[in-house]
Amino acid sequence: MDHKVTVVGAGNVGATAAQRIVEQELADVALVDILGDLAKGKALDMMESAPVVGFNALLEGGDDYALTAGSDICVVTAGLARKPGMSRDDLLAKNTEIVGGVIEQLVAHSPETILILVTNPLDAMCEVARRASGFPRQRVFGMAGVLDSARMRYFIAAELDVSVEDVDAFVLGGHGDTMVPLPRYATVNGVPLTELLPAERIEAINQRTRDGGIEIVNYYKQGSAYYAPSAAVVDMVAAILRDKKKILPCAAYLEGEYGVEGLFIGVPAKLGRGGLEKVIELELTAEDKAALDKSVAAVKGLIEKL
Ligand code: APR
Repeated sequence: MDHKVTVVGAGNVGATAAQRIVEQELADVALVDILGDLAKGKALDMMESAPVVGFNALLEGGDDYALTAGSDICVVTAGLARKPGMSRDDLLAKNTEIVGGVIEQLVAHSPETILILVTNPLDAMCEVARRASGFPRQRVFGMAGVLDSARMRYFIAAELDVSVEDVDAFVLGGHGDTMVPLPRYATVNGVPLTELLPAERIEAINQRTRDGGIEIVNYYKQGSAYYAPSAAVVDMVAAILRDKKKILPCAAYLEGEYGVEGLFIGVPAKLGRGGLEKVIELELTAEDKAALDKSVAAVKGLIEKL
């Protein structure tokens, strides 16, 4: 393949993301995990599916970062996942240590790479990666908004019994309980959601979106969601590798946009070959702005604990 993507963490999110990338022939993949044999085994198992599924991308696994050299993009999923009763923020101390170490290794082998963080608590892990890499914001950002928006889009489609493909929706803010679903920007085939559903149904969808992660954690009991998270990060990877200039909600380092300076917050951004090429500023109502400010305060509180 013309491109190379590293995925760190061969657990649920990482392995599923790797599978989606090679099956779509987006890039060759290096799959790295502290459990080297796990990564090696999953890579071999997936390569043995290639003749049946019919893909020509290569996947290699292990614990040696030499495998990752020259990656266009590195997706970081290494770390602990949530169990019932845990918030994303409970993972802070342990995952800070893990992500800091992983980033140093990645940057040493691929100094020009683009880093996409998936490990939670997401907004704080983006900051850990920014500090450890010294990268500009174009090359370090996080996946959360595509997932949160996909959940919202699915809930809207299910409620209205329409195709998910016809539904657009945006979720801003931190990737946590204070995230800000924006029903004013949600549409079904161009028709505003606010014209299709009464306010209380929309609020129920907003709340289910905020609780989307914990709903899955409560079913799985061991670990957290991974099908939708892996699909979301691969959407970002494809937008970058194919230089799509696609507008996707990402955890981006804000430099004054939305009145926020020096914090990672979920906002719409343009993704292309240059990585996060532009932060898009939406007009917010006073109510949405207040909700975003609350989310910003929550992220700030977490960063102060780093
Ligand atoms: N280096 C490399 N890999 C590591 C390290 C490390 N220092 N520490 C842990 N890992 C690996 C684990 O061995 C495991 O295989 O990270 C993997 C995590 O996989 P899972 O436990 O299956 O977790 P997953 O569901 O994939 O979630 C990973 O993404 O969505 C977030 O909240 C989630 O932070 C979590 C992350």
